[in-house]
Amino acid sequence: MTILITGGAGYIGSHTCVELLKAGFDIVVLDNFSNSHPESLRRVKEITGRDFNAYDLDLRNKCHVEKVFEKYNIKSVIHFAGHKAVGESVSNPLMYYRNNLMSTIVLCETMKKYGVRNLVFSSSATVYSQKADMPLGEDTGLGAVNPYGRTKYMIEEILFDIYNSDPYWSIALLRYFNPIGAHESGRIGEDPNGLPNNLMPFISQVAIGKLPELQVYGNDYPTKDGTGVRDYVHVVDLAIGHVKALLKVQSSKGVEAYNLGTGNGYSVLEMVEAFEKASGKKIPYKISGRRPGDSPVCYANVSKAKKELNWEAKRGLEEMCRDTWRWQKNNPNGYKKVLNAESIKVF
Ligand code: NAD
Ligand code: UD1
Repeated sequence: MTILITGGAGYIGSHTCVELLKAGFDIVVLDNFSNSHPESLRRVKEITGRDFNAYDLDLRNKCHVEKVFEKYNIKSVIHFAGHKAVGESVSNPLMYYRNNLMSTIVLCETMKKYGVRNLVFSSSATVYSQKADMPLGEDTGLGAVNPYGRTKYMIEEILFDIYNSDPYWSIALLRYFNPIGAHESGRIGEDPNGLPNNLMPFISQVAIGKLPELQVYGNDYPTKDGTGVRDYVHVVDLAIGHVKALLKVQSSKGVEAYNLGTGNGYSVLEMVEAFEKASGKKIPYKISGRRPGDSPVCYANVSKAKKELNWEAKRGLEEMCRDTWRWQKNNPNGYKKVLNAESIKVF
């Protein structure tokens, strides 16, 4: 029995592949490499000493996706594939609705056709209403404020409808908070295209000297030091959360949402300080205006994942910064300069 991983070459997907292979699962990866590089998969094999097949295909191509389901005895699916940049989704919403919704619909149609009904889906804390009280529990009101967030919200609704039409489905909606860090080997990590949107990749590119300084988006929020507070979670903890969610969907029926975070909030300036300590580098920064759409504070109530998935984040801020820095230092250009890419099958 094989676990199908969509978007498995990406940041969270590649770390999850490592944890699945370590746990003894057989996997097959589908990715169109629109935001990733096949080299990440070669390194997953190197880290784990295990082999698996990967296919360069777009999930919206139903004919190709069906061929994978024909070839493998797929038991469950972990669905990471999608676009994820908030700003880009605001300027090009149709690209986001087309990619994120269509790929999920094609995937679910194919799963239905082949009788595969276990699914772990990458949702996001961005689905929660910004007016909610902290910490955010899974029953908090939803209300995404940008097209990217709305694709996650819409997909969650679609998945509830699928379950309501057929109670044999088993679906976990994993609402990630702020994934950062990298595998401790320093071989796989986050490899953003162009200027990073998120705080941690921006800080680490300042530390390595690729960017001159960090812009801190506002220091007048009602928080401990006036800067935004977030729940940062180590990507390896997140990856292990997927293994736990997979075990859960394979042993029960229904649709359940789970927050994957630590339950702790750190401010932008605390992150800068922690990263300086871990890297020994000074991070020059300038306070600028608030970024439109940002909430002052966002952190999770993680008790449901602890109780029902038997999962909790184990890695602290120091480890998150140390592992990010190791990855950045060892791979200043990410995977881009690597020529010896994995040979990827194409249908
Ligand atoms: P990523 O961009 O690194 O990985 C996504 C992968 O999906 C990429 O390898 C990309 O090439 C692939 N992909 C995109 N569209 C595809 C398509 N149509 N067909 C086949 N492959 C396709 O992103 P990530 O950070 O690993 O995030 C994984 C998932 O988690 C995404 O759905 C994202 O929205 C969600 N998420 C991420 C974060 C975060 O901060 N990283 C937070 C919350 C939720
Ligand atoms: C962003 C996304 C959100 C997504 C989440 C995790 C936006 C508006 N929201 O949220 O949809 O779910 O990432 O991927 O993009 N900051 C700076 N300077 C920077 C970058 C960030 O000060 O250059 C601050 C932000 O204002 C925020 C904190 O750092 O207070 C974290 O920002 P970021 O990493 O972008 O994550 P989110 O804001 O949580």
